[in-house]
Amino acid sequence: MARIWIQDEQREITDVQEMSTFLAQFGIWYEKWPVEGRIGENATNEEILTAYAPEVKRLSERGGFVTADVIAVNPQTPNLDVMLAKFSKEHTHSEDEVRFTVKGGGIFHIHPANGPVFAVQVEAGDLINVPKDTQHWFDLCNDRQIRCIRLFQDPSGWTPHYVAESVHERYTPICFGPQYVTDRRTDSVVKL
Ligand SMILES: [Fe+2]
Repeated sequence: MARIWIQDEQREITDVQEMSTFLAQFGIWYEKWPVEGRIGENATNEEILTAYAPEVKRLSERGGFVTADVIAVNPQTPNLDVMLAKFSKEHTHSEDEVRFTVKGGGIFHIHPANGPVFAVQVEAGDLINVPKDTQHWFDLCNDRQIRCIRLFQDPSGWTPHYVAESVHERYTPICFGPQYVTDRRTDSVVKL
């Protein structure tokens, strides 16, 4: 279940329209794209890009994105912990970070200049665009896998600029849902 969790206010948002409205005030795009029947379980990266070509084209025209690729991260990924450590420290980019999740999930924490830190849990079907220069970080959920389409304005790709006065250690990346953890009151909550 996609959700927004505002830890400092102990507030949760799960309605898709409310999520979209909340995120829009920080310039973040959030959309639900259909996933059922769009791609097979073992679809190649090319098949995924073909299946979502109409949505990718629409988004590219809106945001000036020039390249798209598919990234897959899972427990078999070599040096997974090293890779995750790059994402999970507070950082910015000099271009938008656009991710459409095809499989698996994760949590983006956003640290806006004009509001509280909040977490956005994404799953298959979620499109999110974190605008350039927005302070954020990313963690996987406890199944440690995500497959997503990335769009880039700069063909050179993903470059993090780490934040000096970072706050990421104050926030726990907690994923909820049937495949993750359902009881947030117990120590069964998973911290990555
Ligand atoms: Fe990032």
